[in-house]
Amino acid sequence: MRIDIFTLFPEWFDWLRRPRHLANAAVSADLELRCFNYRDTSSLPAGQVDDAPYGGGPGMVLRVDVVAAALEAVYDGPAERAREGRRVVVLTPRGRPFSDAVATELAALPELVLLSGRYEGFDERVHAHLASDAVSLGPFVLAGGEVAAMAIVDSVCRRLPGALGNAASLDRESFSPGLDGGTEHPHYTRPPDFRGWRVPEVLTSGDHGAIEAWRAAHTGPAPVT
Ligand code: ADE
Repeated sequence: MRIDIFTLFPEWFDWLRRPRHLANAAVSADLELRCFNYRDTSSLPAGQVDDAPYGGGPGMVLRVDVVAAALEAVYDGPAERAREGRRVVVLTPRGRPFSDAVATELAALPELVLLSGRYEGFDERVHAHLASDAVSLGPFVLAGGEVAAMAIVDSVCRRLPGALGNAASLDRESFSPGLDGGTEHPHYTRPPDFRGWRVPEVLTSGDHGAIEAWRAAHTGPAPVT
């Protein structure tokens, strides 16, 4: 899988290459993570990338010509064709809410492009003519799309073959179909008694049937979306 991130802060993504599941995915799923800075390909003076919104108002808007130039520098042909044959996802609070189901969908793609914006977001023509869709990390406003891109990359990459030490971790984790979208039961480990805070006895009983029953009883409901 190849993931391309367009951003004004490519260096923020350096640490994202370090976690084990990403390193594993880079080897076993041939994951390639590339970052591109809109400023590097802007034809405007001093690498300008944004401008004041028409009609007035606070904040700055990422320009459509700047985003188009960035896409054209990386992909062959006109920018509006970049979304043909690959997903070009804008990160914005106006997008489709991110979820485990969206992560699974994106992880099945051979190629994914994430467009991060700062300021007031993108000129609407980016959405209309350059992107295939838009995703939001949640109903809150971030200072930009970078943190959303990182969360999406993390969540997508742990689904790639070989990313996790034990792929079965994905089968019955929170929000998975294996738990009907619910949240996983609580976990305990040694010591069995810490300051009088005891591990539920059933978990140390060795009775697998009883343990399964306890876990099922402590699985949380699916969140309301
Ligand atoms: N950019 C700013 N806020 C965002 C959000 N909630 N999700 C994705 N990108 C964003």
